[in-house]
Amino acid sequence: MNDIRIAPSILSADFAAMGAAVEQLERSGADLIHCDVMDGSFVPKITFGSDMIAAVRKHTSLPLDVHLMCVSPQNKIEEFVKAGASGLTVHFEACIDKTKKILQFIRSFGVRAGVSVSPDTPVSSVYDVLEEADMLLIMSVYPGRGGQKLIERTLAKAEEARSFLENAGLKRDIEMDGGINEENAAQVISSGVNILVAGNTVFRSQDMAKTIAQLRGAK
Ligand code: DX5
Ligand code: ZN
Repeated sequence: MNDIRIAPSILSADFAAMGAAVEQLERSGADLIHCDVMDGSFVPKITFGSDMIAAVRKHTSLPLDVHLMCVSPQNKIEEFVKAGASGLTVHFEACIDKTKKILQFIRSFGVRAGVSVSPDTPVSSVYDVLEEADMLLIMSVYPGRGGQKLIERTLAKAEEARSFLENAGLKRDIEMDGGINEENAAQVISSGVNILVAGNTVFRSQDMAKTIAQLRGAK
């Protein structure tokens, strides 16, 4: 997989200046904008809803990669699509036996569908729905807040997923989210991940463009 893309997470941006933050990300060479939606039920924290997506939509032409850390995500799909989401990722843990139907529902709006597994969820749990997804998001931290340390054992989940997809003849993106930095990006990429989410690493950088390029080119 050579199209390595960087999806900075606005979870680490200044929420009082979100428009300027996404404009800066676009100027700095980000490929997607990762938008961490937390509902206070699936995870304790509440971040923002579809109004924030509509607001940032006006400030960037980049794809908005919306990560729904929400219960009953099927009830939120239409509003986030209308707000301008380019892709919607739901958590297997919030969908379970409805996952396939929800992914099909997302795709019915013509946007990318993603399914995410938290660190303790085996990646094999989603093998039977990956046909309906455009992307698999492997959480390398427990969902709920930025700035955590990458959980090493999740790299093996990415390797397992990449070989499953190759054997099944499925060309899908694998995104990893949480604790990614210049030191571990090469390991993340060699595990088969091609979209790297990074919040803290990008927003604390003195040179955002250099950091994004370093993450993309990590070997
Ligand atoms: C966790 C969030 C974070 C965020 C990235 O629920 O999904 O992982 O996107 O956070 P950093 O890059 O700061 O670990
Ligand atoms: Zn995320």
